[in-house]
Amino acid sequence: MIVTQEARTQAQELLDFIDASPSPWHVAATVAQRLESQGFEALREEEGWQLESGGRYFVVRGGSSVIAFVMGTQTPDWTGFRVIGAHTDSPGLRLKPRAPFAAEPMACLGVEVYGGPILATFTDRDLSLAGRIVVRRKKGVQTRLVRFSHPLVRLPNLAIHMNRNVNEDGLKLNKQTELPLLLGNLLEAFSPAEQFRSLLAHLAGVEEDAIINGEFHVYDTQQGVFWGVHEEFIANSQLDNLSSCHASLSALLSTNEPEATCICALFDHEEIGSESAQGAGGTFLSDVLQRIASGLDRDTLGQAMARSFFISADMAHAYHPNFPSAYEPAHKIRVNGGPVIKTNACQRYATNAESEAYFIALCECAGVPWQQYAHRTDLGCGSTIGPIVASRLGMRCVDVGNPMWAMHSARESAGTVDHSLMIRVMQRFFS
Ligand code: CO
Repeated sequence: MIVTQEARTQAQELLDFIDASPSPWHVAATVAQRLESQGFEALREEEGWQLESGGRYFVVRGGSSVIAFVMGTQTPDWTGFRVIGAHTDSPGLRLKPRAPFAAEPMACLGVEVYGGPILATFTDRDLSLAGRIVVRRKKGVQTRLVRFSHPLVRLPNLAIHMNRNVNEDGLKLNKQTELPLLLGNLLEAFSPAEQFRSLLAHLAGVEEDAIINGEFHVYDTQQGVFWGVHEEFIANSQLDNLSSCHASLSALLSTNEPEATCICALFDHEEIGSESAQGAGGTFLSDVLQRIASGLDRDTLGQAMARSFFISADMAHAYHPNFPSAYEPAHKIRVNGGPVIKTNACQRYATNAESEAYFIALCECAGVPWQQYAHRTDLGCGSTIGPIVASRLGMRCVDVGNPMWAMHSARESAGTVDHSLMIRVMQRFFS
């Protein structure tokens, strides 16, 4: 396996991108920062838009979803839109609104489960909190991103001496009683709520009573690494799906004066079903497309949509040699074997023969290998934003993604080379 310097650099950029983005709100901020530094203009949905041919823009909704686009030099009724979608959220734990509580002799934080994480992987890790708080200002309120950078909280395992069958039965955790995070020793002078509020105020540099509320994602402070004989693999949290966010963003940033309008749509809330104002099931993408095409009448907008193409990019399951019976034998996916096209007869993925052929053609033009995934027939198949966007917008769509191991673990793995291959295909799509 040869890992080129370019592939290595792009994978390192991905690891840095993830380490800078410990919550979906931070993802949106990191993306916005990268876009602005490369000359993209921030638009606000509350204001009027004056869009120019070849112009570069982005808009954030709900603080956690971003749509960025480069205006085409031709009109969309002629070229259609080229859209890549991915998601900014990852499954894990979130703090409850009144999280701090006393469990003699400890101060703890109550959590909710967000999406479908492998809960056992959150034990014994150097966890911390990242999210946003709303604070009172002289005039109105302000939302601020916050992040504790050191390991603030922990979920220690029960020792094997009290859980003798853990290796035979697996680690099972009751979501209400066995997931609260340990925060500190209980103090006589301060309640856990007072301790936590003072920590937050100190972190944010505001008075304690200025903090109205907040929302927090539990994240792993361990940074991303390369591993394997040739460092041909990477490991980090949130590879699902910040890999696809980073790949599509990298492709868009390198796009210059395309004929068709090229769009990156990065949505929150995929892991919980996408039904929200800023999720893929909401109106965000269709609202933005309509504003981009505001000069078109209903008839020409219909033509534009019919000529458009949507690449739904989310991660795919790589073959794990220790668990051969978990996979469909004809669809073994190899890490560093290239982008994976995902198909499901029941439309859990939006791919069909024609959209797949289109993606294969893109891979061939880009000189990139590709693979095909289908789930075992006797196992329930996952889904993603592809079918949701395809059904809302009536757009042609293919579901693709890079191979990975341990999807929804606190620490996931993927291929160093695959990331640069995916960027190359996406650049081809946008060119
Ligand atoms: Co995903």
